[in-house]
Amino acid sequence: RITELDSICLKAEVIPVLAIERVEDAVPLGRALVEGGLTVLEVTLRTDCALEAIRRLKEALPQASIGVGTVLTPAQYRQSEQVGADFVVTPGTTEALYRYGITSPVPMLPGVATVSELMTGWQYGYRRFKFFPAEASGGVKALKAFAGPIPEARFCPTGGISLDNAEDYLALKNVMCVGGSWLTPKSLVDAEDWNGIRQLAKEAAQRFHH
Ligand code: 3PG
Repeated sequence: RITELDSICLKAEVIPVLAIERVEDAVPLGRALVEGGLTVLEVTLRTDCALEAIRRLKEALPQASIGVGTVLTPAQYRQSEQVGADFVVTPGTTEALYRYGITSPVPMLPGVATVSELMTGWQYGYRRFKFFPAEASGGVKALKAFAGPIPEARFCPTGGISLDNAEDYLALKNVMCVGGSWLTPKSLVDAEDWNGIRQLAKEAAQRFHH
């Protein structure tokens, strides 16, 4: 479980978080990010076509790792398994999700914002977490503080991360990678400017190389 998540997160300093509005955008958008050097993507279940978009991405980009994000319930977790998710990301946690996640063949990156949520996940055996919403929940300072009581936990912070502050997070010992929507600005996606997206991905991939 931990090794699976580590091998996915180690491939990427930066995980683009996508909310795909038009299913036809999925493959060209995903391809632009992967060609730019970002090979781990999180596609959120925030749009109607998300599951179909993930199905298409899995087929078109077998070299990429596709996570399903914004999973709120075990039912959505099961749907994510069915479309071939490589991992599942949740914005927060419930006992039901924690319990379902340990039985699933697809690993989960549970979202936590507090030490208590972290402790609950720890009891269930989770060691890798999403820290969300990172900036609003104390950012770099909070993560440094988490390392006091639970130094072995590792995080992917998301929420308010951009080119400007990603480096500060990636410098922390307990941060594996960062995630964010800044790599897929709505203006570029609406204009189908896949070259522009590829360029953004390239800059991030080069700047934050392990
Ligand atoms: C997420 O679910 O990870 C966030 O919506 C991404 O946050 P951002 O839009 O602030 O990057």
